[in-house]
This record gives sequence, C-alpha cells and structure tokens, in this order.
Amino acid sequence: MHIKSANFVISNTDVAKCPNEPLPEYAFIGRSNVGKSSLINMLTERKSLAKTSGRPGKTQLINHFKINGNWFLVDLPGYGYARVSKKSKKTFQKYITDYFVKREQLVCAFVLVDIRHEPQKIDLQFMEWLGENGIPFCIIFTKADKLRPKALERHVETYIKELLSGVWEEAPHYFVTSSSKNVGRDEVLDYIDGVNDTFFENRS
Ligand code: GTP
Ligand code: MG
Repeated sequence: MHIKSANFVISNTDVAKCPNEPLPEYAFIGRSNVGKSSLINMLTERKSLAKTSGRPGKTQLINHFKINGNWFLVDLPGYGYARVSKKSKKTFQKYITDYFVKREQLVCAFVLVDIRHEPQKIDLQFMEWLGENGIPFCIIFTKADKLRPKALERHVETYIKELLSGVWEEAPHYFVTSSSKNVGRDEVLDYIDGVNDTFFENRS
C-alpha cells in the first residue's frame, strides 16, 4: 500500500471526543518504550508524525492520525510505566480501557512486544483481556534489529509456544519488525489493506 497522506487529527483522553467518522482504525498498544510511536512513523514514512523518545512515558494521549483520507492509525500511551503516580495510572487505565471497549471503529489492535525479552505477564494478560472482550488483535514484535537472526527466530518461537501453552488454542497473527531498519513494513501495511477491503465491502 502506498501512503499518500498521513495527518495528525486530534489528541484526547476521552473516547467520546475521538473522530466520529465511520472509518476503520488500528490502535498501537504495549509497554512504554516498546516502539509504538516509532512504528507509526516507519509505516507512514514520516520521521516525526508521532512523537518518540528514549525515555518511557512519551505518549500520554489517544492520538488519531488519518491515513490516505480513509482510515486511522491510533497511537496510545504505554502500559506498565512505573514512574507515573498511582492516581494517573488509574486514570490512564480507565480511558484506555474505555477506548478499547467503546470504540466501534476499532478493527484491530496491534499489541507491540519487544522481541528481546521473555514473555511478560502484563502483555499476556492484556491479550487475554482483549480476547475476553472480543477485540481482534495481532502481535507486532519490535526491535528485531537488536537480535541476531538465530536468536530472533528462537525468541519468536518461544513466545508463540508460551501463548499456545496458555489460553490460546491458535496463535494470533504476528509480525516481526524493526523501525530503525525498516523491517516488516510491507507485511503490516498489506494486512491493514486486507482488513480495510473487508471493512468497506461489508459497509457497502
Ligand atoms: P511511549 O510513548 O513512552 O509508551 O513509548 P513508545 O512505545 O511509543 O516508544 P517510542 O516509539 O517512543 O520508542 C522508544 C525508544 O525505542 C526510542 O528511543 C526509539 O528510537 C527506540 N526504538 C523504537 N523502535 C525501535 C526499533 O525497531 N529498533 C531500535 N533499535 N530502537 C527502536
Ligand atoms: Mg509513544
């Protein structure tokens, strides 16, 4: 898919204030610093469309980016960021939870996982929560450039095994990416293209 346009539309903490056009959207979620904002920039080939930082906790709001005039990418804050206060953590959980539960336009959540690490409880629990709430999701493994090919393969295998030994009978669709080395771009965009086609066919 060719990205002809990618524009920031709005930031907020209230799902009711998100754009109300009936267009399909894809949300990026995962631990702080996993590379959600960087991935949005890689996919859109816009260096600083979404704000990134080496320090966790950069993205604080629900950010809508309109792509090619007819679908949205949504950048979200990370979960599991220890330095925010308990109160702001609670508020965060509430508006993010609200977003996932109430947002009818959401057609797929991309759960980002840093491929260097062992499967983390917080990610596995979040995926289970998505499943319980009937929210479709894919896994995007990030920072693939940080591992050698053999190790990368082993880590992906371990992760999928962990999922299959838990609540999942079938492994979710997954992608291996590196925003700094431009890996996985076509795969993710082709997937989005396919889901968009289904969305617009069903609507017409
Ligand atoms: P929050 O908004 O704080 O939740 O973080 P985020 O998930 O949006 O992460 P962000 O995109 O800001 O990236 C965090 C750090 O990881 C930055 O220093 C990025 O340059 C780095 N990073 C992101 N993706 C990659 C990648 O694919 N490879 C490498 N080597 N570094 C990456
Ligand atoms: Mg971010």
